[in-house]
Amino acid sequence: MSGIILLCRAGFEGDCAAEIQDKATELGIYGYCQTQPNQAYVTYNCQAEEAEHIARKLPLKDLVFAREMFALLSPVKLAGIEDRASEVIKALEPHRETFGLAGELRVETPDTNEANQLSKFCRKFSVPLRQALRKEELLSNKPLAKRPLLHVLFVNSAHALVGYSYSYNQTPYDGGILRLRMPKDGPSRSTLKLDEAFQVFVPENEQEKRIQPGMKAVDLGAAPGGWTYQLVRRGMMVQAVDNGPMAESLMETGQVQHIKEDGFKFRPKRKNIHWLVCDMVEKPARVGELMTSWLLEGDCQEAIFNLKLPMRQRYAAVKEYLDQIKDQLQTEGTKPFEIQAKHLYHDREEITVHLRWLPKQ
Ligand SMILES: C[S@@+](CC[C@H](N)C(=O)[O-])C[C@H]1O[C@@H](n2cnc3c(N)ncnc32)[C@H](O)[C@@H]1O
Repeated sequence: MSGIILLCRAGFEGDCAAEIQDKATELGIYGYCQTQPNQAYVTYNCQAEEAEHIARKLPLKDLVFAREMFALLSPVKLAGIEDRASEVIKALEPHRETFGLAGELRVETPDTNEANQLSKFCRKFSVPLRQALRKEELLSNKPLAKRPLLHVLFVNSAHALVGYSYSYNQTPYDGGILRLRMPKDGPSRSTLKLDEAFQVFVPENEQEKRIQPGMKAVDLGAAPGGWTYQLVRRGMMVQAVDNGPMAESLMETGQVQHIKEDGFKFRPKRKNIHWLVCDMVEKPARVGELMTSWLLEGDCQEAIFNLKLPMRQRYAAVKEYLDQIKDQLQTEGTKPFEIQAKHLYHDREEITVHLRWLPKQ
């Protein structure tokens, strides 16, 4: 059995499956998906060489619904508790020649209530498994980014899926989940969405330059202020647009100007806005069009916004919205741009999109 394993939010398996099917077809690979509702992962069945090609050539960054992706080497049935490590080793044995040595190990679970109960076990089990793999020369003694990362995904206590991903095409987080603690003074839980978006969309080595204190930002649909809170925390001066009330604690910082206007009509007086963020609950096509026009008219440098997805065929809808934005930026813009979209861990029935003009090389 070979293929690709993709982890997603429970309930989004159909969207994740539609997406991998579409992207694999673009690469000339014609496999098929297997999944079950709410299992929080999808298996894309294809030949081992095709899975290897996908693991190398299909950027995880380009997938909206997959949090993590790895090429499957083998399913493992874990009968006895004591001997789990040797079962994993047995499953890897036939791949020793082709797979060689892993550079690091990740023991994880899909994001379901049932599997999450195994997280503690996974952490514990990774210790003897790591030792056993090293003894068998299947895992390097020190982490080696040049060698593949070995994934052992416990789908339940008796079954695991073993596979690999490459360092240049993987998430740094177990299960693709960036867990963030809710700040005590955060005005709403949505604050975590923007915090995650900044960390996922802006590479760590560019954050100092692109997310700077003193930058000007606009938050459309800002109340009560969860997103504004993240901008303020990063030292920015924020125009918060919403008819609703903003948290007092934010207004007291002196960094926030509350503007009670329609977010679809508001425009900044000066072209000095770096970040535009938008969390208005509105038709996604309308939000996409608004964000695109801000960029095209030079009213912001970068934008992060949510597209709400109440419809059934979410992947098809997302593809249409993103294509529309790309087409418009391509035809009406004069500069290269970047667009990233992700169903973030803190998103629910929505995805988060990042848009920016690329700086001159
Ligand atoms: C999901 S809430 C935003 C939550 C906010 N991001 C936070 O973290 O606290 C959506 C907000 O959009 C505002 N909104 C909806 N349509 C709007 C419009 N046309 N102009 C301005 N605000 C709008 C609503 O008043 C509401 O406060």
